[in-house]
Order: sequence, then structure tokens, then C-alpha cells
Amino acid sequence: MTHRVSIDPLRTIAPIDRNVFGGFAEHLGRCIYGGIYEPGSPLADGTGVRTDVLEALKRLRMPVIRYPGGNYVSGYRWRDGVGPREERQARMDLAWHDLEPNTFGTNEFVDYCRRLGTEPYLAVNAGDGGMREARDWLEYCNGTKDTALVKLRRQHGYEAPHQVKYWGIGNEVDGPWQIGFKTPEEYARAYTEYAKVMKWTDPSVQLLASGVSLWTTSWVERVQLLMEHAAKLIDYMAIHWYVGNNAERGYRDDDFASYMAISEHMEDMLSGTEGILRAMSSALKLKREIPIAVDEWNVWYRVHNEGKLEEVYNLEDAMVVAMHFNAFFRHAKSVKMANIAQIVNVIAPVMTRPDGLVLQSTFHPFELYASTAGDTALDVHWDGDTFSTPEFAALRVLDVSATLDQAGKRLAIYLVNRSQGETAETTLELQRGRFADEGELHVINGPDVKAANTFDTPDAVGVRRSRVAGGGTTLELALEPHSVTALVIDVA
Ligand code: AHR
Repeated sequence: MTHRVSIDPLRTIAPIDRNVFGGFAEHLGRCIYGGIYEPGSPLADGTGVRTDVLEALKRLRMPVIRYPGGNYVSGYRWRDGVGPREERQARMDLAWHDLEPNTFGTNEFVDYCRRLGTEPYLAVNAGDGGMREARDWLEYCNGTKDTALVKLRRQHGYEAPHQVKYWGIGNEVDGPWQIGFKTPEEYARAYTEYAKVMKWTDPSVQLLASGVSLWTTSWVERVQLLMEHAAKLIDYMAIHWYVGNNAERGYRDDDFASYMAISEHMEDMLSGTEGILRAMSSALKLKREIPIAVDEWNVWYRVHNEGKLEEVYNLEDAMVVAMHFNAFFRHAKSVKMANIAQIVNVIAPVMTRPDGLVLQSTFHPFELYASTAGDTALDVHWDGDTFSTPEFAALRVLDVSATLDQAGKRLAIYLVNRSQGETAETTLELQRGRFADEGELHVINGPDVKAANTFDTPDAVGVRRSRVAGGGTTLELALEPHSVTALVIDVA
């Protein structure tokens, strides 16, 4: 097989917003309790935080984490989760049919974010909650005047405002599964009113509208109506998706090639949303672009509520996670935030048990991209052998993206070889400048596409690092079957 990847460091797409490496934590299963927070565990510190999980998450360098849901937020009362722990009341959570002790809430979450070096992003209840509650929560967190809510926060031990910058209004309001599902018209109206009072409460906040999670015909109408009603109040249009190697979340059941073709679905959702936003911005003569936040995304198709969403990921899932970052980079002009759902135990790159944790296969592409990506996405041209599925003809076997650092020097080239059996002999061609004499190669792979990291086989899927010789305007790589490769090299 032969492939050619052509890179011109001056052919840029847009700056990459680091927020595409965001995360999401929900009160669901063992994400908070038993993941982030497990008081009494020998692995927890005095605050109840699992330090092994904290350290693992630090490696992912997430700049922003969304909380507390998800579906959970549509029945959440933030007041239940603040104040002295011994006075907090347990409540029934109707989203996941579980008892919520409320021993972890806003302040614990903000503390956690600060330790992680990440920005908290709070989603407000637009399900069975109201705008008064949302505005009060914002005032409690960010207020500086001597109001009752600010005094309450101080009384709870937080003198300084939390300065929470990102606020989402509702979650998946387009889904009939949501507490307080809303028609496009209902949500466009509700969003406008919530956003108005929230911006009045704190004009510095960035607001996210719950755009699309159900990719049926009404998604066009939803985004259009939101723009018509509230374009001036929207800082991000949020969309969600989950994909899988099955017919429900992908194209067919357990079919590797079809699963690899999921890139086409991601392109449709991103390009489609970009198109509506652009059309509406033009029609409304909007002076600024409204970016997209993919504020829930991941592979999720095996386990549902009965398994508390404890999905065990394999190598093909890790390849799909890598393809997500390639797509986000290729759409860097519009995608300014993305949050993998979720961060621990629940469809997550980190899985715990009482005595330790395992880094799932999907941890590795996340860490690799987050630690090597440059500041600007490049518009890469590539061609080579193709594959076909019942749905698609002639998809390129490689899925590619590239970035450049601020100095215009360090290139990172990401290549997913979507062939299950063939090495991809690849020529990388630099159309301007030459490759430095040496670069770093990072390869994520495992024995086969179903290989998974578990407590028994924690290293089945991992990263291998090596040095590679450069020195000219072309560089030859043999990309292993079913692998993710990152080449990091300077342009001399
Ligand atoms: O992340 C799990 C769930 O997926 C979230 O609660 C919901 O928003 C989505 O449907």
C-alpha cells in the first residue's frame, strides 16, 4: 500500500483551542463516588479525593471539565450539594435511578478543578429547574457584592468568587429521555430568558446553548431557531454525539471497516452544524462567529444504565478517539471546545477499583494528542489507497491531521492507519522547508483491534516511542496496521 501526505506549514486552518481537550464528569455510576471522590479509601487524601485518579487525569491536561451532568443536571438542585456535608440531604436521581448523597457538590468540584489546573464548566438545570435557580447558582459562585448568596458562599468557606467562566443552559433538551424535554421553539425561548438573566448576573460568563444530541431531522430547525431567537446571547453552540461499532451508534454491528468509516459521520455533524451557523450568521448579519462545543463525545455502545456505563475500551475504540481529534483539528476554525464523556469509570479513559486504576486504551490517544498538539491546525493534503463499506466507496485508509507550534517550527503529524492487516507505506512530503535531522515517533497499537486494557492486561494497548531520522523534504514511514502514529519533528 502507498500513501502520500503533503504538508505546507503556511497552509493553516485556524488556531487550535486547547479546550478541545476538555472533559466531563457527571453524577452517574462511579464517576464521582468511587472515581473522583472516595473518602475512606487508602488511595484518597484527607479531602476524600482519589489521588491516583487525580494524577492520571493530570496527564490528560484537560483545560476544562463540564459538571454535574448530563441527564443528571435536568433534575439537580445545586443547593443540595453545598454547605456542611453532615447537613446535606440525599435525593433520588431520576435520570439514572440512583440515590444521590450530595456529599460532593459545587465547591468540591471547583476545588477539584483547581487542583487539576482546569476550568470548571457548570451546566444549569433547564429540565425541572428554573432560571431563578440558575441565576442564583451563578451568583453564589461568581458574585462579589454582599448579597445573601455571596454571604452563603463565604459562610461555606469560600471567600473569593469561583469565577466560573463557562455555563451551559440545559442538557440534551432535544431528547425525549431528558427530564423537561423541550421542542425547538420551547428551548429557543427558554434559552433566551435564562441567558438574559445569567448575563445580567455576570456579564463575563460564556454561555453554551444545548444545540443537538438527536441527529434526526429537527436538528437543523433547532440550531436555526436558537440563532433566530438568541444569537447575541450564545457563546457556543453545543452538540453531543456517541459512536460505536454497532448499527445503532454507527453503521453496522461489529464491522471494523464500517466502524472506521465513522469519520464520515463526524464530518457530517460538524460540517452540517457549521453550515447552519454560517447561514444564520450571514442572515442575521452577525459580526462574530459562533463556535461549536462538542461538549459530550465518545465511543459508547456496549453498556447502558444496568452496567453503569462502565465501558471497557479496545484498540479500535482508541483509533476512533484519535480520529475525533483529527476531525476537531480539521475543523479548528469552528470547534472551540470538546469534552470527552466522561473522565473516570463512566465511559471513561480511566477505570478504578478500590485498590487501583487502569488506563484504558482510549487514554493513550487522548494523552498523546493533548501532549503533542501545536497551536495551529494545518490543512493537510493526503491520498493513497482506499477502502469501501456498504455505505461508502473509496475512503482513504489513512485519517490524518497536523499541527504547528506558535513559533512555526514544531510539526505534529497524526496518522491513523485504518487497515486491519496492511502496513501503510507512507511518504510525508514537506512542501516548504525541510524536516529537521531527527524527530520523535509515537505509535499506539496492540496485538489486535479487540485488545483491551484491563486489570489483568493493563498494557495490552500502549504507546511506543522512538526516534526517526529526517533531514530532507520527504520522510518515509511504515505505519503499522490498526495503529495511531504521531510524528513530532521540527521544520528546519
Ligand atoms: O454521558 C452519559 C449521558 O449521555 C449524559 O448524561 C447525557 O447527556 C448523554 O445522553
